[in-house]
Amino acid sequence: VTENLKIGIAGLGTVGAGVLKILGVSGDLIAQCCARAIDVVGICARDRARERGLGLAGAAWFDDAIALAKDPTIEVFIELIGGSDGVALDAVRTALAHGKHVVTANKALIALHGAELGALAEAQGVALNFEAAVAGGIPIIKALREGLSANRVSRVYGILNGTCNYILSDMEETGRSFDAVLKQAQELGYAESDPSFDIGGIDTAHKLAILASIAFGAQVDFSHVHIEGIEYISANDIIVARELGYAIKLLGLACRTDQGVEQRVHPCLVKSDDAIAAVNGVVNAVVVESDQLGRLVMEGAGAGESPTASAVIADIIDIARGLVLPPFLRPSEFLRSEAVAPMARHEGAYYIRLTAIDRPGVMAVIAEDLAHEGVSIDTIIQRGAERADSVPIILLTHQCRESVMVKALARISSHDVIVKPPRMIRIEQL
Ligand code: NDP
Ligand code: HSE
Repeated sequence: VTENLKIGIAGLGTVGAGVLKILGVSGDLIAQCCARAIDVVGICARDRARERGLGLAGAAWFDDAIALAKDPTIEVFIELIGGSDGVALDAVRTALAHGKHVVTANKALIALHGAELGALAEAQGVALNFEAAVAGGIPIIKALREGLSANRVSRVYGILNGTCNYILSDMEETGRSFDAVLKQAQELGYAESDPSFDIGGIDTAHKLAILASIAFGAQVDFSHVHIEGIEYISANDIIVARELGYAIKLLGLACRTDQGVEQRVHPCLVKSDDAIAAVNGVVNAVVVESDQLGRLVMEGAGAGESPTASAVIADIIDIARGLVLPPFLRPSEFLRSEAVAPMARHEGAYYIRLTAIDRPGVMAVIAEDLAHEGVSIDTIIQRGAERADSVPIILLTHQCRESVMVKALARISSHDVIVKPPRMIRIEQL
């Protein structure tokens, strides 16, 4: 008879509580799946006195996550504290060094320290599983690491942050303000403890760096990701985009180019009839394009208690079944350091928002500057005054090189009639 798997959980917040609840209500199902039961023998959080309503009597309490990580009673350390450094990093390093398997939902940790931690796990012959770190409940790591392991991936992209997608789609549907919707996403447990990680695109970039590593056999390197967030997207951008036949989504995209691997996170205009435009709320979607399978699309809840905990438990079940894989699909020795394709050479079409003084000749100045740099205009819209003295002007361009677009905008913004910095949103052909 195989012994029960003994686990220790550090972090009893949204995700940690979700894990304990699912182990409580579905313990029998899980035990059947892995032919052994899972026992939570140790737990740790910051505040022991907090009433959590989780029935924690059977597990020993640890004030210190590092003490739990090396405690001889546990075989698997579950890190659900968060943060790329500090106690989360120290505890995971400690657990691996003591020969414990590790499961974590912490994308910041894996994006910044995955190469080191993955190599340590391999050297110790233990698992480092992080399914919940990317796209919440969607089993995309499992799909890449197992189902697609015979494929060469050419592109992986998607909506990878539930909070941003919730904000953008709610603003489009209800017209509520950015701040009101963000507050609700926080109350629902979707946002990071510092929500600027969500809205600034950093959380998506953490996830993209992890996906790109597995997809392209590259060493995970967060510094290779170009990052822009959704902070500057206005309700008016969303309305105008819709009128023009587009939705605005925060996407993470990684692909191979002849310059190297391009990894970028930024808001995008996507055609309203593209499937990804219909992915709304906290839902995430990931698309993988590869040589043997073609196009794979996975869609599901990208954040929140139960979906994220579901992914954490799937990782624990793999360990209970004895499945230990290289964390990034290939053993560390085969992970290359890939060249970074520079954004300046990116080619695409652009949505440009200018704010100008409402005066004859302004359009001519803008058109002349664009023509000077060789940027061709597809659509131009001038709306009623934003303030008495200024008007928003929206331009859609044809395809051009990003460095050219940036130069054209610098030229335009040098005129006194342009009263705010121009904003540029890339139009993505998916
Ligand atoms: P929470 O903020 O809800 O919970 C964090 C937990 O960590 C709390 O229980 C807290 O203790 C505990 N904690 C904080 N500092 C320490 C410390 N020094 N020692 C021990 N315990 C500590 O975070 P989430 O559950 O939302 O997120 C956890 C991880 O999962 C993060 O990495 C996050 O990025 C990731 N994640 C979250 C998702 C979500 O939808 N929320 C989805 C996917 C991944 P106390 O309760 O006493 O304050
Ligand atoms: N804050 C993250 C999000 C949690 O909103 O997607 C899931 O990783």
